Amino acid sequence: MPLVTMKQVMADSLKRALDPKEDPKERYAVGAFNFSTIPEMVGIVEGARSKSSPVILMLSLGALKYIGSLELVADTAKGIARQYPEVPIVLHLDHATDLEMIKHAVVVGFTNVMIDASQEPYEVNIEKSKEIADFAHKHSPRGLDGCSVEAELGMLAGHEDNIVVSEEDAGKAYTDPKLVPRFVDETGIDALAVAIGTAHGFYKAAPKIRFDLLKEIREVTGVPLVLHGGTGVPEEDFKKCVEMGMSKINVGTGLKMVYTDAVREAIRTLPETEYDPRKIVGPGRKAIADEIAQKSVLFNCAGKSEAILKSLY
Ligand code: 13P
Repeated sequence: MPLVTMKQVMADSLKRALDPKEDPKERYAVGAFNFSTIPEMVGIVEGARSKSSPVILMLSLGALKYIGSLELVADTAKGIARQYPEVPIVLHLDHATDLEMIKHAVVVGFTNVMIDASQEPYEVNIEKSKEIADFAHKHSPRGLDGCSVEAELGMLAGHEDNIVVSEEDAGKAYTDPKLVPRFVDETGIDALAVAIGTAHGFYKAAPKIRFDLLKEIREVTGVPLVLHGGTGVPEEDFKKCVEMGMSKINVGTGLKMVYTDAVREAIRTLPETEYDPRKIVGPGRKAIADEIAQKSVLFNCAGKSEAILKSLY
């Protein structure tokens, strides 16, 4: 099975999010998870498969620097997608700012790219996001609409590789619902990342999510909405976001922790004469799979794979 686009994977979730008659409990979001090694990629997909859930593999710029090549990531993800035909898998480039690099990701086969010009003035954000949406919709090797596009309006606090936003600045820059319709219409993007109180990385205190803003934003636009900064968000808040129409949820830092804790524990408990990396890294991969399985249930996207694949093929 080839990789699928974010637009394809989220079509049903979006339909449910936009339908006022839909039972909120039937709504769901698709999880997007950061990786920087092959065991993490496989762990994420294994976890999704165990719950018959679609999944989004998410590459940050930091992970790209570590791995070294967009082609290598794209080819690996395509290989994994062939190996797991029962899982709808999206390959996503996260928080990219360099337009040429994003175009390169499109050309090598990423199926979703994020242009993050959220720190730029509104007009520049529109201009850059539109340039990427126009390019991605035409130039994917998978044909027209072979790659979808996410952009961000407002700013999230925290570190995301090259983008650093202080909590003070982020507080001033929640997504303004009034700016959303023009941004979505003029750019032609497929999904909108919103700043409603979450932050990248660990929280000092539980985040205060602005559900009032989420409601307003959901009412003024028809594109899927994306929640960044999923680490440390309380379960009840995730559920509420999903019930209110969030379609994609990003989790990064928490997964690194789960993986590293399991690897540390393996090193601590294995005999010092054990040198097999599979015995050391394997528990990390398994811990990631368990975490994704749990998140798939929490985001209510467990059991959705078959219907998504049927709608596509
Ligand atoms: P966390 O690292 O806070 O989970 O955020 C991940 C993210 O939003 C990536 O875009």
